[in-house]
Amino acid sequence: MNFTCSYNLTAADRIGAAIGAALMPGDVVLLSGDLGAGKTTLARAMLKARGLVGEAPSPTFAIVQPYAPPEVDLPIAHVDLYRIEEEDELIELGLDDYLYDGVLLIEWPERLGSQGWPDALSITISESGDARVLTADVPTSWGSRWPLR
Ligand SMILES: Nc1ncnc2c1ncn2[C@@H]1O[C@H](COP(=O)(O)OP(=O)(O)O)[C@@H](O)[C@H]1O
Ligand SMILES: [Mg+2]
Repeated sequence: MNFTCSYNLTAADRIGAAIGAALMPGDVVLLSGDLGAGKTTLARAMLKARGLVGEAPSPTFAIVQPYAPPEVDLPIAHVDLYRIEEEDELIELGLDDYLYDGVLLIEWPERLGSQGWPDALSITISESGDARVLTADVPTSWGSRWPLR
């Protein structure tokens, strides 16, 4: 299923919160879009929906920023692969380990190369003036959980 909508900053909070509330262990959310598109903004809203108080830092330098209960009600690793250049570095991150009981939110999934999760929820953000356009490729594993229309 495909979903598209245009949204502003206020709606970003609502959209991120709705997706965040629907997350389940094992989910992978890929956030694609240029620098400044709004990937971190959506990830922050998802984290907030799972109980995180305060603004999540951008994981650009940490690469992986893990969150665990009690600060959130579901383990979530917020990942930014922008600085990843080689597949070896990617393997070292051990991202799959987070999926056993948690969720991956991944910015710059283009860096994943051949590694990928076929069942991932893939979100692409493009800029259109001051607003943004979100396109979601919703896998069947999300089916009835997809919260937007
Ligand atoms: N839907 C939106 N409409 C307008 N501005 C937005 C929207 N989403 C994010 N922004 C703004 O765009 C800037 C970059 O957002 P950010 O989430 O850091 O981008 P990215 O992680 O993709 O580089 C921020 O100032 C943010 O407030
Ligand atoms: Mg970012």
